[in-house]
Amino acid sequence: MNRTTIEAMKLDDTYVMHTYGRLPVEFVYGAGAELADAEGNRYLDFLAGIGAVSLGHAHPKVTAALMRQLDRVWQVSNYYYEENRGELACAISDLLSTTTDERGHMTGSTGTLWKSFFSNSGAESNEGAIKVARRWGEVKLDGASGILTARQSFHGRTLATLSATGQDVFHKSFGPLPQGFASVPLNDIDAMRAAIEHPTESTGRFCAVMLECVQGEGGVWPATAEYLRQVRALCDEYRLALIIDEVQTGFFRCGSPFSFQLAGIEPDIVSMAKGIADGFPTGAVAARAALADLMNPGDHGSTFGGNALAMAAARATVETMIDERIGEHVIETGAHMRERLAALPHVTEVRGHGLMLGAQFDVPIATPLVTDGLSQGLVLNHIRDYILRFLPPLVVTTAQVDEMADKLEGLIVALA
Ligand SMILES: Cc1ncc(COP(=O)(O)O)c(C=O)c1O
Repeated sequence: MNRTTIEAMKLDDTYVMHTYGRLPVEFVYGAGAELADAEGNRYLDFLAGIGAVSLGHAHPKVTAALMRQLDRVWQVSNYYYEENRGELACAISDLLSTTTDERGHMTGSTGTLWKSFFSNSGAESNEGAIKVARRWGEVKLDGASGILTARQSFHGRTLATLSATGQDVFHKSFGPLPQGFASVPLNDIDAMRAAIEHPTESTGRFCAVMLECVQGEGGVWPATAEYLRQVRALCDEYRLALIIDEVQTGFFRCGSPFSFQLAGIEPDIVSMAKGIADGFPTGAVAARAALADLMNPGDHGSTFGGNALAMAAARATVETMIDERIGEHVIETGAHMRERLAALPHVTEVRGHGLMLGAQFDVPIATPLVTDGLSQGLVLNHIRDYILRFLPPLVVTTAQVDEMADKLEGLIVALA
């Protein structure tokens, strides 16, 4: 490590809050699925800024859109109309109403109109989703306000989204947390029905169910298509709003535009962020018009949400994904990556869809694999001791997947 990197680490360690345990590398350059550190070493990136750099680092079309916007105007606020915002919301509505087969190939449209509110992050998008659902509960369900989520879910770090997150480990020290949230085991429709029919005093009656179709932070645990269809039917039965958190799974990460499409369902509210703008901080919550139209001026807002730079980056990202048929590439490359991972020693299972995959190991080597991976030029990510999670840029090539899998095999053999 050269002196500059050591100094950068010292500065960071001294002046930046230690809410993350950082790995000892400073990335200064990225292109496609590759990164370079301050010393010029090359890395293959299988994390993509935690699933955000969807089209790859510094995609020329997104860079061009941002450069153009940088020269025009950055921030005017939501008090005014703005270039790109309407076009982006329209493209998102079209993507949300797309239908696909169970592998993610696009087949048609439901014709549903979706309306978006733009935020700056996934947690903020979920805050917006919770507010829309509670408005629905107030107006249509006689004041019901409870939100039912899944155990091992992850919905963000704000206090309400922490409450929604069904993992006690994130709750300790930060109470009192906002009330009205309960969680049930994923893929257990009877447990969900029982919770809806017998709400506790602490939540009161429910107005919404909120789920990830693949629990990313929890360890890449997919909801089954059958379960999602049963959840949709249960929500219809009780008139609950179905919120799908597509923050990690959305924008072709799973092959289809959004992961709920793989199950052939249509939610009422969808939160998104990460891949929406190729790494530029942006998020959105979209609702079907019947719910979105319950929100009025003054009900929700954000100074920076939907700002001109974010809208330019997001519009360029979404349009490029569609033009370049990125979903087809994800389905193909994802299938190849799944095969390569499944063939690795000590891998007992590969879970997920498209280019959101988790490899389960039968030995606790996930943490050292990430550290050793760095010295081999691999950016990897682990969830606790037994799971590696793979979220490469969606433009990753088959050759890059092979290079990663070959190197990973060597690392596993050396460790176990
Ligand atoms: C499913 C899901 N929801 C919400 C969030 C929170 O997003 P952000 O970190 O942008 O607030 C994440 C982040 O990993 C996520 O995976």
